[in-house]
Amino acid sequence: MNTRSLFLQHVAQTSTAPLALEIVKAEGCQMWDVNGKEYLDVIGGISVANVGHRHPAVLAAIKEQLDAYLHVMVYGEFVQSPQVQYAKALTDHLPATLNSVYFTNSGAEAVEGAMKLAKRVTGRVEIVAFQNSYHGSTQGALSIIGDEYWRNAFRPLLPGIQHLPYNSFEALESITENTACVIAETVQGEAGIIAPKQAWMHALRHRCTETGTLLILDEIQAGFGRTGALWGFEKVGVVPDVVLLGKALGGGMPLGAFIADRSLMYQLTDNPVLGHITTFGGHPVCCAAGLAAFNALLNQGLVNGVLKKSALFEQRLKHPQIKAVRSFGLWLAVAFESFETCKRVIDRCIANGLITDWFLFAPHCLRLSPPLTITEDEIENACAIILRSLEKER
Ligand SMILES: Cc1ncc(COP(=O)(O)O)c(C=O)c1O
Repeated sequence: MNTRSLFLQHVAQTSTAPLALEIVKAEGCQMWDVNGKEYLDVIGGISVANVGHRHPAVLAAIKEQLDAYLHVMVYGEFVQSPQVQYAKALTDHLPATLNSVYFTNSGAEAVEGAMKLAKRVTGRVEIVAFQNSYHGSTQGALSIIGDEYWRNAFRPLLPGIQHLPYNSFEALESITENTACVIAETVQGEAGIIAPKQAWMHALRHRCTETGTLLILDEIQAGFGRTGALWGFEKVGVVPDVVLLGKALGGGMPLGAFIADRSLMYQLTDNPVLGHITTFGGHPVCCAAGLAAFNALLNQGLVNGVLKKSALFEQRLKHPQIKAVRSFGLWLAVAFESFETCKRVIDRCIANGLITDWFLFAPHCLRLSPPLTITEDEIENACAIILRSLEKER
């Protein structure tokens, strides 16, 4: 039996129609399948490969760490240099109050840890999240995602959750002295790139401060330059109490983090001690890889090129079938009239050598979140393929 058939038989499936491409190599913005066909990747493993696939510095850091040690102890007990160095580098590039890093295995685990931290710090149980937000698939994260279709089959979920409309000023009144935390994506990704109103983000920050509620910003997709700033919250001029990172954080290896002031984090040491436990969170190889990717992102000045590249996508993606293009940095949603059209275009793009996808809560939108290393020529090529894939739609 070939690998594809074995995949369908023995690897648990969560969709009746997985892409099932058999990729044998990835480098930069390119991937190759088992038949030698080359693809241009414009989704970067869903906003993971911000410095491109297999960045040489990331590979070197992984190899160096392999020669030293792999897993040696559960999170937080041993001093592990890759963790320490990465925590220092991240906090050096974050506002002063975001100075203590808890490394996790995934984005969802960072969400879980942050919600627990908020309950522990405030002694409150209510949580506010937003409609059409995505925060992950574990039970706590699922409880706060803002779409009933995805939650319904898994009830009962966490109690005390309210979902407010994103960008609504009136809704902020629902945040009270009983609210432990508000969790928001800085930019709503899976909703199809919905940008926050700057004034609303300020009002949200103000309301949280006024009510003693922790503001948690989920930058799991928005972070690491995707928006045209290193952190998305810089674009809106607010500083959260907790920031959530994941995806590009590990440079292609699994890693998440929740980051807060050490006075808040310290509360995880007591009553109960070991307030959040994880065996593999902050794995030394993942931290070494992540640190190398972070340094590459900074040293190559990749964030500076984001807005120009995004503008080029917008200029080129003009077609009667394209109803709108929403963008926030190198993160674009190309809207069609229906999911069916979008799906046909995506399938044709893949057949034509371009890897793209749709959004969970905006299935009529085609996703663009390429490595930030993508060149102008590659953008021209990607847009030409999308436009060609649309021709048959007329
Ligand atoms: C904004 C956001 N938060 C959280 C998550 C969950 O991260 P993970 O899939 O690593 O659990 C995702 C994943 O897509 C995400 O986009």
